[in-house]
Amino acid sequence: MNSRRTRPRAVTGVLLLLLAVVCSPLHRGAAVAVADPVVNVAQGKPVKANVTCGSPLEDFYPHSDLLKPASDRQIQRCDASNPSLAHNASLMTDGNSSTWWQSTSLQQLMLSGNGVGDRAEVSITLDLGQTYHPENITIHMGDTIRPGRLAIMRSADGLNFDPWIYLVTNGNRDCRRFGVAKQPEPDSPESVVCREYAQLEPQLYNERITVSLSEVPPSFSDEARQRWQAVRHLQLRFYDMDLVLGTSADQFVCNSLT
Ligand SMILES: *[C@@H]1O[C@H](CO)[C@@H](O)[C@H](O)[C@H]1NC(C)=O
Ligand SMILES: *[C@@H]1O[C@H](CO)[C@@H](O)[C@H](O)[C@H]1NC(C)=O
Ligand SMILES: *[C@@H]1O[C@H](CO)[C@@H](O)[C@H](O)[C@H]1NC(C)=O
Ligand SMILES: *[C@@H]1O[C@H](CO)[C@@H](O)[C@H](O)[C@H]1NC(C)=O
Repeated sequence: MNSRRTRPRAVTGVLLLLLAVVCSPLHRGAAVAVADPVVNVAQGKPVKANVTCGSPLEDFYPHSDLLKPASDRQIQRCDASNPSLAHNASLMTDGNSSTWWQSTSLQQLMLSGNGVGDRAEVSITLDLGQTYHPENITIHMGDTIRPGRLAIMRSADGLNFDPWIYLVTNGNRDCRRFGVAKQPEPDSPESVVCREYAQLEPQLYNERITVSLSEVPPSFSDEARQRWQAVRHLQLRFYDMDLVLGTSADQFVCNSLT
């Protein structure tokens, strides 16, 4: 048992998602480079989380209150039936960075079997509506610390998800827990990549995790690059979540090259 940690009565957190996507294929013959708008292809798209707070309603403290004496903490409420207190998954893709999705408390997560020991696990699934070739996937954590390990999965049919990119804290050891070897870059369009977070130290909140999909070996043909970047259904699985949990996603971005 790990008794060093003291837990607040409830925990909370948010995650914001941004995804940069190349909307249209590069026209090889184009002579002039045009400044392309970045388009958020996740915005307005259907997104589900497998756990959401607020049903039944739940009180929580914001993460920023963790170190405050109990008397100074501001209790907040998550109530799925009240639009101003709900933190439903759709708020991740509503394009408003002031709204967020939030999981249930750590205790509730563990009681409902979402995790192992004191390490919670949640998943978020997004249907982009068509196949895109993202340049970046950006995950914006809100009032929460990033997960120790993060699996980014993809699927063509929304049913069978294949691992795509694993992001981990401790390279070889964490990659082995996913059953793969550390491999920061793809060596084929079907590769499963396992790399450490680009930013070594986690931020306590509001971390923006950018996953680049455009870094491919020079040996990749355009066709191989397109296959490596292709995604229709995206699933994020959070593992080894610490103390404070939850997520809210915000916008996805698409880089249109014409
Ligand atoms: C949030 O989602 C729940 C479950 O799908 C639904 O019952 C509720 O009406 C939603 N709340 C809002 C404010 O959209
Ligand atoms: C964004 O969300 C906040 C909090 O719910 C709300 O006050 C604000 O009006 C929203 N902004 C837009 C542009 O909808
Ligand atoms: C939610 O997803 C996580 C990660 O895939 C999984 O470990 C957990 O069991 C799921 N929970 C539910 C209620 O399906
Ligand atoms: C993708 O991420 C890289 C690295 O953070 C950044 O330099 C680049 O501008 C991003 N591209 C888009 C379209 O946001």
